[in-house]
Amino acid sequence: MTTDDTASLRRDLAARMADIGSLTDPAWRAAVEAVPRDVFLGTDVYRPAGPLWEPVRRHGVGEKEWLGLAHADTTWVTQVDGTDAADASDPVAGRPTSSSTLPSLVVRMLEVAGVKEGDKVLEVGTGTGYSTAILCHRLGAANVTSIEYDPGLGRSAAEHLSTVGFSPTLVTGDGLQGYYEGGDYDAVVATCAVRHIPPSWLWQVRDGGTITGALGGWMTGSGLIRLSLGGDGAASGRFTGDEVSFMLARPHERPPRPMLIRRVGDVRACRVDPGLFQDWTGRFVAQLAAPSAEFVTKGDDVVLVDVATGSQAWTEPEGAGKGWTVHQSGPLRLWDRVEEALATWQAAGSPAQTAFGMTVTDEVQTVWLEAPDGPGWQLPT
Ligand SMILES: C[S@@+](CC[C@H](N)C(=O)[O-])C[C@H]1O[C@@H](n2cnc3c(N)ncnc32)[C@H](O)[C@@H]1O
Repeated sequence: MTTDDTASLRRDLAARMADIGSLTDPAWRAAVEAVPRDVFLGTDVYRPAGPLWEPVRRHGVGEKEWLGLAHADTTWVTQVDGTDAADASDPVAGRPTSSSTLPSLVVRMLEVAGVKEGDKVLEVGTGTGYSTAILCHRLGAANVTSIEYDPGLGRSAAEHLSTVGFSPTLVTGDGLQGYYEGGDYDAVVATCAVRHIPPSWLWQVRDGGTITGALGGWMTGSGLIRLSLGGDGAASGRFTGDEVSFMLARPHERPPRPMLIRRVGDVRACRVDPGLFQDWTGRFVAQLAAPSAEFVTKGDDVVLVDVATGSQAWTEPEGAGKGWTVHQSGPLRLWDRVEEALATWQAAGSPAQTAFGMTVTDEVQTVWLEAPDGPGWQLPT
C-alpha cells in the first residue's frame, strides 16, 4: 500500500470522527479526507510501554500496519523530553514534548473555535504540521500562520506541509508571544496548553475574534475554552466541558523540583474527600485554588508541593471507612486553599466544568463559577 492508497483510511477516519460527534462540518470532513496523516508522522513515533515510551518504526511494523496506525484516531507522541522518536534507540523515560494530536480533537477544537472560510488563523504548536494542513485545506495557506517552539520540529513540519502542497507562514519561536506581523487574526488556536492567556494573543486578535485552547496547570487539571474578544479589550467565554488535555506550552512547564520527601507538618482531619482529585472538574477546581502547586500521585493519597515556596500538603487515610488526615507545612496552607475552593464548588451542587467561565483583561484573568460576578479565582500571570 502506498500513500496514494490511503484514501479509504482517511475516509474511515473521518467517518469515525463523525460517529463520535467531533466532526459535524462537511468542510472539515473534506479536509480530513484529503490530508494523509502518515506524511506528518514521518517514520517513527513512540507508544507507551509501562512507564516508558517505546519507539515504533515504520520499517519495523511494515507499510500496511503503519498506514493503519497513522490513520487511527489516536494521539501519536513524536518527541519525549526533547528526543525525537527517530533518535531513540531504546525505550525512554520522560514526558512527551511533542505529538500529533488525536485527529478528532484537532477538528473538535476548530469547530469549537468556529473557524470558517476567509478566516485568518494563528495556530500555536505546529508539531508535525497535521493540524496546520487541516487548516490550510479549508482556509488556504495564505490565511494560516503557525508557530513551533522547537526548531527541528518546525523544519520537519515545513517539509511535511510542502510534501502535501501547502506553504503557510511557519514561524519558529515562542507562540506565547504570538506573531504580530500576521495579525489581526480572526482566531488563535493553541494545541499546547497554557496556565494563563498570553496578553499578546489578546492584542493580536481582532475585535470579535476568538482564542481557543486548553487552560492547564501543574496539577494536570485542564479545561477547553473559547474566548471572544469584546470591544472593551476583554475576552470572555465558558469552558466547553470536553475532557481533553494538552502538553503545556514549554515556557509554562513546571520547573524541576528536588526529590520529594514528605514533611510532617500541622495535622488535621480533611473536610473534603481527596478522592475529588480523581474527578475532572474537581481537580480543575483544586488547581485554580493553588496554581503554583504540583500534584504528585502517590496511590490514593494526594500530595501537593508548591513550586514557589516548597510548601507541602499530603493526605493519608485514617483507617478503613474513617476519613482522611492532611499534613501541611511551609508558608502556604495548600490544603486549606484547595478545600475552600472545593467546598465552594460543592455548595453550588458540584456542577460540571461547563458551569465555569473565564474573563481576561490586560490586568487580570479570572475563572468564575456560574457568572462573572460569582465565586472566582485569579490565574497567575
Ligand atoms: C500537541 S503538540 C502539537 C500537535 C500539532 N498541532 C499536530 O497536529 O501535530 C504541541 C506542540 O506545541 C509545541 N509548543 C510548546 N510550547 C510552545 C510555544 N511556547 N510556542 C510554540 N509551540 C510550542 C510543542 O513543541 C509541540 O510540538
